[in-house]
Amino acid sequence: MACPYFTLPTTRVANRTSVIRQGESRQNGFCPIQNEDDLTYHKYLQLDNILNAQTLRSTLDGQKPVHDEHLFIITHQAFELWFRQILYEIDSISRILSAEYLEERKSLCVISRLNRVIAILKLCCDQFGVLETMTPQDFLDFRDTLGVASGFQSYQFRLMEIRFGVIDDLRVSYDRKSFLEAFPNNERQLLEKAQSEPSLLDLVNDWLSRTPGLKARSFDFWCRFKVSVNSMLAEMKLATQDECDDVARERMLWRYDKTKKNFTELFDEEHHNNLLKLHERRLTYQAMQGALMIFFYRDEPRFHLPYQLLQSLMDLDRQFMKLRYNHTSMVQRMVGSKVGTGGSSGYLYLRSTCSDRYKIFLDLLNLSTYLVPRDRIPPLSSEMKKSLSIEGCFEIGPPRFLDERDPGYLTGSNPNVSIAKDTDDSVEMAVKERNGTLV
Ligand code: HEM
Repeated sequence: MACPYFTLPTTRVANRTSVIRQGESRQNGFCPIQNEDDLTYHKYLQLDNILNAQTLRSTLDGQKPVHDEHLFIITHQAFELWFRQILYEIDSISRILSAEYLEERKSLCVISRLNRVIAILKLCCDQFGVLETMTPQDFLDFRDTLGVASGFQSYQFRLMEIRFGVIDDLRVSYDRKSFLEAFPNNERQLLEKAQSEPSLLDLVNDWLSRTPGLKARSFDFWCRFKVSVNSMLAEMKLATQDECDDVARERMLWRYDKTKKNFTELFDEEHHNNLLKLHERRLTYQAMQGALMIFFYRDEPRFHLPYQLLQSLMDLDRQFMKLRYNHTSMVQRMVGSKVGTGGSSGYLYLRSTCSDRYKIFLDLLNLSTYLVPRDRIPPLSSEMKKSLSIEGCFEIGPPRFLDERDPGYLTGSNPNVSIAKDTDDSVEMAVKERNGTLV
């Protein structure tokens, strides 16, 4: 493709002969700039501002410039420009997601913009490699001139964290101070305002809570899933009892107990809400159910894009964590255990930010705990199958397809189904299920 800045005036593209001439003139070094005030590459990109913004602190006292400080400044500026683009994308994604109804055709736009953010984060991770061509000794030559300036004061980085949905209570603080104290008043107020607005996590949570089928009376996913898990557990128990080898039985029992505990917790709404308060869960109970439903029924046309969206959100989380990790390991190599210019313990502080507490879509990452073998996934009711085969919206309000004649309707909507107690009943249930009897 031709360079967009090298287009010729349209009047010259009148006929084929002139097109050929233009081609020739290009090869002859034709200059398209006619007037002083023509828009040029330089003006369009405001390069005067950007390219004159590398003032080396090392030269301030009339000293000789420290060569590597130039790279240090350029690297940080490149990061900040990419942060700006990420914020631009996230704002647009949030606007789309905050609509009361998310039209499914817009999901594609959300996914492609999210993927762009992920690609930028990957690029940022690689940028540390360029900075690492500066040795720790070279860095020392100008480190003292930085005073208390630190990446800790990056407004855009904090805004990104807030927009993504980093939980404020889970931040690692140093000196028992809020990160906000590192900012001048105007920036602090903007960050506080951003904190009061819905984050990507909040918006995704609302969207997931509206997953079609969660509340449809023709298909109460959660109840059906519980029934299926009960029978799976009962079969596991049976198999454990049938095992003759002591060691193998021990192992099977341990696996059974663990699986049962996981599912008992999953189906306990109160427990979930307590974990939510403690920030050990990120999604509400209903949103979690929606996510699981999308994971299970991802092959249904209406869930194709939602499934991809969830994958992208997990990639985003992972890439953001990699960014933290790459920065942290570079800092260790660059300054060892020296304290940071921003006043933290340096590497040790940064290391503690590379943990689950800073993960945003933690529940999505942990969702695999609750996946069951394909033949255990509750089959969709015919109405639900129909509903998921067409395009629509993830909307609030009554389900569109209600069919009380659906055979699974009564079983599915029984609110009393809970994880079976370890009784013979559950075993009997499993046997019935195995023999094809509807439990
Ligand atoms: C020689 C290179 C670098 C060193 C030695 C370094 C060191 C540090 C240290 C020690 C901290 C902890 C806060 C403090 O006490 O100062 C920090 C925080 C931070 N740095 Fe860097 N840094 C470097 C390069 C970068 C680059 C290129 C970026 C890109 C923008 C960056 C962004 C950040 C951010 C955003 C934080 C806050 C992290 C958080 O609180 O979770 N740093 N850096």
